[in-house]
Amino acid sequence: MHQEKIEAIKSSIAAADATNADELEAYRMKYISKKSVVGELFAGMRDIPNEQKKAYGQTVNEVKQLAEAKFQELIEKVNSSSTKSKSSDLDLTLPPSNISAGGVHPLTATRQRIIEIFERIGFNLSEGPEIEDDWHNFTALNFPENHPAREMQDTFFIEKNPDIALRTHTSSVQVRVMENQKPPIRTLSPGRVFRNEAISARAHCIFHQVEGLYVDENVGFADLKNTLYHFAKEMFGKETKVRFRPSFFPFTEPSAEIDISCQLCGGKGCNVCKGTGWVEIGGSGMVDPNVLENCGIDSKKYTGFAFGMGIERIAMLKYQIKDLRLFTENDVRFLKQFRSMV
Ligand code: DAH
Repeated sequence: MHQEKIEAIKSSIAAADATNADELEAYRMKYISKKSVVGELFAGMRDIPNEQKKAYGQTVNEVKQLAEAKFQELIEKVNSSSTKSKSSDLDLTLPPSNISAGGVHPLTATRQRIIEIFERIGFNLSEGPEIEDDWHNFTALNFPENHPAREMQDTFFIEKNPDIALRTHTSSVQVRVMENQKPPIRTLSPGRVFRNEAISARAHCIFHQVEGLYVDENVGFADLKNTLYHFAKEMFGKETKVRFRPSFFPFTEPSAEIDISCQLCGGKGCNVCKGTGWVEIGGSGMVDPNVLENCGIDSKKYTGFAFGMGIERIAMLKYQIKDLRLFTENDVRFLKQFRSMV
């Protein structure tokens, strides 16, 4: 008889539910309070014969624990649904709070644009380490033993004998690519480079370059010129002129400095171009046969051109930025101006 009643109470506890504070209170009255059905079971103890009291007490206690556990569960349920209903009180007609979206750094945007231009004409991307050994930074590139770039005042050496340095240019990546791939090679290597320079409006000890390399059969100087004409017009606009000025680099022969017509005065002459109408954006040339051979490429069969340009330089010319230090000072008043660039 008791057993049946107890089972019925247990199953009604299991089935009980509450969705608000009132229903919760109703549950409490029905199963937890002194006058609840569970309370009545305890009160019924007096009518139980002594020898059965112990077993009865245990059973009733189980029911009590069940009722309390369910009560906790329902409290949690009602609380969590009431916080939800609070959030639905949000006034969606209010104007949004001011979320300030970030932007791409002007150097990142410039690098992306350069990559995009060269990717379209078949260049892939390659990277090399910023901490470089003597072979890749100097020796394989045909630098003579006593070249000033190998001196402490120009290069950050990390170790001497064997020499390990922060790379002074991205030309080191040329060597790494040619050591590992056979022609045809058409690759672009952007990256950070380091030189022991005093920081000023025009120079920094950390800056960025992008290196280009094209090695195949019958690659000539005309290919170099056409490639860079294409780049300059894509990057700076159709009116831009390019000039190649004879120069010297140990790793190219012949070598040329790449100048573009001044973006500020359009070539008439101003203080940015020091009255010449031209500004330099990088160096270039035909890969020296010694460099090809150093990397295991047959210089009788293959020729190539290479170029290296400063990314800061290009960004400064394109956006008429007068001081290189602005790129690394993290002044949001400067950076904000480039927010619309993606
Ligand atoms: N590595 C040179 C520098 O940092 C730039 C350069 C010049 C790269 C001529 C080249 C090149 O690939 O052919 O000043």
